[in-house]
Amino acid sequence: MKHILIVGALGQLGSEIALALRRKYGDNSVVLTDIRDDINRQLIESGPFYKVDCRDAKALADIVQNHHIDTVYHLAALLSATAERSVQAAWDINMNGLMTTLEIARTFRCAVFTPSSIGSFGPSTPKRFTPQDTIQRPTTMYGVTKVAGELLCDYYYHKYDVDTRGVRFPGIISSMTPPGGGTTDYAVEIYYAAVAKHCYECPLAGDTYLDMMYMPDAVDAAIRVMEADPAKLRHRNAFNVASMSFCPEDIAAYIRTHIPDFTITYRIDPVRQAIANSWPDCLEDYAARVEWGWNPKYDLASMTADMLAHVGARNQTGGSPCSQTN
Ligand code: SER
Repeated sequence: MKHILIVGALGQLGSEIALALRRKYGDNSVVLTDIRDDINRQLIESGPFYKVDCRDAKALADIVQNHHIDTVYHLAALLSATAERSVQAAWDINMNGLMTTLEIARTFRCAVFTPSSIGSFGPSTPKRFTPQDTIQRPTTMYGVTKVAGELLCDYYYHKYDVDTRGVRFPGIISSMTPPGGGTTDYAVEIYYAAVAKHCYECPLAGDTYLDMMYMPDAVDAAIRVMEADPAKLRHRNAFNVASMSFCPEDIAAYIRTHIPDFTITYRIDPVRQAIANSWPDCLEDYAARVEWGWNPKYDLASMTADMLAHVGARNQTGGSPCSQTN
C-alpha cells in the first residue's frame, strides 16, 4: 500500500496529480500540503491536507512520520517569469524546498518525484530535438535552480540511495487550475480568451516554438516514472518528455477550426520572450519511451478540442466578440 505526500499540492500540476493519486490509492493515502489553503476547497476536503511551507523541515518530517509516507511528490516551485522578478526567493524556494524534501526522504527512506523543465536548457543547447544528455547552461534563475535540482536529485540517489526520479516538463496546459508566472502560460490563457472574447493578446511572438503537453499526459508521466521498474532505469532524474511543439500562430489556427472568428494580436513581454528564446523548440524523448514506456496521447488538435469543451462548459455565459470589447 502506498502512502504519498504531495508538497505544493494546490498548484497547476499538484491539483491534478493529487486527484489522480487519490483516485488510484484512496483519499486517505495521499496527503497534501501547500503554502495556501484558500483555493480548491473540494480537493482540500477530500482527504488529509496541511498548510505548510515547503521549507518547513520539522512540519514536513512530522507529516511523513505520522502518515507513514513512502513517496513524496515535490512540486513546490516558482516558475520562470516570476523567478526572474524574484531571484532570491526563487533560489530559496526552489532549492531549499527541494533540499528539505530530499533530507526528509533520506531520513525516512522515501522515494521522491521532482519535476525539472525545458527551462533547464539554455541558448547553447541544441534547439531542435534536444537530446536527453546535452549542454545545460540556462540563462534564467528558474533554469539555474532546475539544473541544480537535477544534479541534487542524482546526488542523493548515488550518495544516499534515495530513490529519486523526475522528468523535464514542457509547458503544461490544463483547464482545472491555472499556472502562474510561467513563460508558457499563454498556451492556457489563449483558450480562456478564445471562449470568452474570441481574441487574445499574446505576450510571445507568433513564431516562438516551445514544447507543450496536455495535463492528462503530464499526470501520466509523473505517476508512470515513479512506478517504473528501477532495473530498467538508466537515467533517473530529468527524463526529457515531449508530446507536441507549437508556436502561437499554430495554436491560434487550431482554435479557429472551432471558433472561426478568433483573432490573435501581439504585445511582446520582453522578459518572457527572452526566456522563450533561450529554450529549445522541441525535445527528443527516446530515453523516457524505452526506459519506462512514456507514450503521450494528446496532440495539438485533440488537446484544443478538449480544452475548448472544458473551458466552454464552465463559461456558459459566452462573451463579447473582440471588436466590441477592445
Ligand atoms: N512552464 C514552465 C514555465 O514557463 C516551464 O517549465 O516557467
